[in-house]
Amino acid sequence: MKQVFNFNAGPAALPKEVLQQAQQEMLNFKDSGISVMEHSHRGKLYESVHEEAKTLLKELLSIPDSYEVLFLQGGASLQFAMLPMNFLKQGELAGFITTGAWSEKARNEAAKIGATEEIVSGKEQNYTTIPALPSFAEDRYKYVHVTSNNTIFGTQWENFNAISHPFLIADMSSDILSRKIPVEKFGIIYAGAQKNLGPAGVTVVILRKDLLQQANKDLPAILSYETHVKNRSLYNTPPTFSIYLLHLVLQWVKSLGGLDAIEKKNEEKAAFIYEAIDHSNGFYSGHATKDSRSLMNITFTLPNEDLTKTFLAEAEQRGFIGLAGHRSVGGCRASTYNAVPMEACKALRNFMDEFYLNYGN
Ligand SMILES: Cc1ncc(COP(=O)(O)O)c(C=O)c1O
Repeated sequence: MKQVFNFNAGPAALPKEVLQQAQQEMLNFKDSGISVMEHSHRGKLYESVHEEAKTLLKELLSIPDSYEVLFLQGGASLQFAMLPMNFLKQGELAGFITTGAWSEKARNEAAKIGATEEIVSGKEQNYTTIPALPSFAEDRYKYVHVTSNNTIFGTQWENFNAISHPFLIADMSSDILSRKIPVEKFGIIYAGAQKNLGPAGVTVVILRKDLLQQANKDLPAILSYETHVKNRSLYNTPPTFSIYLLHLVLQWVKSLGGLDAIEKKNEEKAAFIYEAIDHSNGFYSGHATKDSRSLMNITFTLPNEDLTKTFLAEAEQRGFIGLAGHRSVGGCRASTYNAVPMEACKALRNFMDEFYLNYGN
């Protein structure tokens, strides 16, 4: 089989071990004679996968018992709408910290449901940096929304010390499970699975249970968090195969030593590639300012369009996949999610060094 290094931004690389296990179990899950996809979501075998996945996620992220873990569909994009539908009533205001295109989308969707206000935006700096947060009166906002990692621009909140609100919501689609996070700081955390958690199709929502008391009771059942909490994410047919793979990914993360080990590895992986950028005398130019660099999405440009094209074409020939930047910003992007191996990042670094030597003068 062709050797490739997968730097896709999402759907993204999955751990090889996970895919191998899924392959082994594909036709005969737990000696049942059928695949996991063919089991009833109300049957014992599937239910144990479903519940164990929740338990493992709670363990790995140290989620307190006061929170519920939900497995929903509709991607992070449905959360952009469900959050205000459930929690933003007339006369209330939602505050948004805008650090990239996905934060903008989250706010635009919320603005269709209720009143929103931008607390701060990095747009004027072309989202190169995580902006300093101005002080604000907490009681001005029903909730405050933040995006922890900006997949398109390649910036990330290093920590959440500067942000404080009793009802803080974070879109962690592109960095969940990549590092330790203070879950207690948040009312709700949500993430589409297709970067660090598993395949597309399932969205994880971590919700502080007491918030349900404030939720809108008049929504269609499928759009209400309460429905999904009451039914343990089994209100309707869940994406069983995606949740099964999520379960395997969580077991894999645990087997590697949990988030301490993952975080360290992610730091080392990203450092290889940032070093190639920093040692290139400006040939590669990082989009993010150094203090806002993402450990998950490394964005950079080359001196001109032609060189970018040549870089991407030569990279592809050498087996590097998914290095083109997002269509809205161009340039290059290497996504170094959990399942991207260290050797892929080293290989990319070597390729970048070599390309610079060939074309940099
Ligand atoms: C930070 C962030 N939020 C939201 C989304 C949208 O996710 P979905 O496609 O699951 O709706 C993405 C997708 O890349 C993302 O990176």
